[in-house]
Amino acid sequence: MRRKVIAGNWKMNMLPGDTINFIEGIIPLVKDTENEVILCVPYTDLFYAWHSLEGSNIHLGAQNMHWEESGAYTGEVSPNMLKSVGVEYVIIGHSERRAYFAETDETVNKKIKSALKNDLKPIVCVGETLEQRENGETEKIITTQVEKALKDITREEVKDIIIAYEPIWAIGTGKTATAEDANNSIKAIRSKVKELYGEATAEEIIIQYGGSVKASNSKELFDTSDIDGALVGGASLKTEEFANIVNYKK
Ligand code: 13P
Repeated sequence: MRRKVIAGNWKMNMLPGDTINFIEGIIPLVKDTENEVILCVPYTDLFYAWHSLEGSNIHLGAQNMHWEESGAYTGEVSPNMLKSVGVEYVIIGHSERRAYFAETDETVNKKIKSALKNDLKPIVCVGETLEQRENGETEKIITTQVEKALKDITREEVKDIIIAYEPIWAIGTGKTATAEDANNSIKAIRSKVKELYGEATAEEIIIQYGGSVKASNSKELFDTSDIDGALVGGASLKTEEFANIVNYKK
């Protein structure tokens, strides 16, 4: 049985004081969960989050990184910088980064390789636009994104990767894919992983759903055959709501 992984993506929200308060509030609420919990916070909150999370069962993540370890890249943050403040996971290729910051399948692939080399676990995002969905291209788009993201990554390495299926039309819109639709898309991704790495890897890899996940729809999503948790945006900014997603069985 694969574990469930619930990750919060705070996006560009929360100051250090908010971060400390949030973490103090959430630690007791999720301390007994068997699910894995990750908080992906803004760069400026990482140091505070690292210290606040100490001794808890919550893991720390970042939302992006550069693929180089150092150099003349004004404004960028490197994988080893993330490691230095306790980061274990890093979101790569979020659709907002692809849409607004010119990330491509090629830069996503470079970042994944660099993250793995630096002992960071990538959470790799893929997803289709509404237009692509309406044209019946969902499966083709997401499996191609996965194939390009994983180019030249070995079977051994891919075990440390989480894939997040996030249909772009469902992000921040309140529109969730039905559990059945999301599960089918994730099954298609799992088949692609099987084609690339074999059945055992496909059965093992964690594939999350993201897009308007909240406490009220999480159980239905997580009770499917292939959805292994969620990458949660808006609802991860509210302590109780996020804790209720993590504790969805209760
Ligand atoms: P929302 O949960 O706010 O729709 O955001 C999803 C997302 O983009 C997580 O990475």
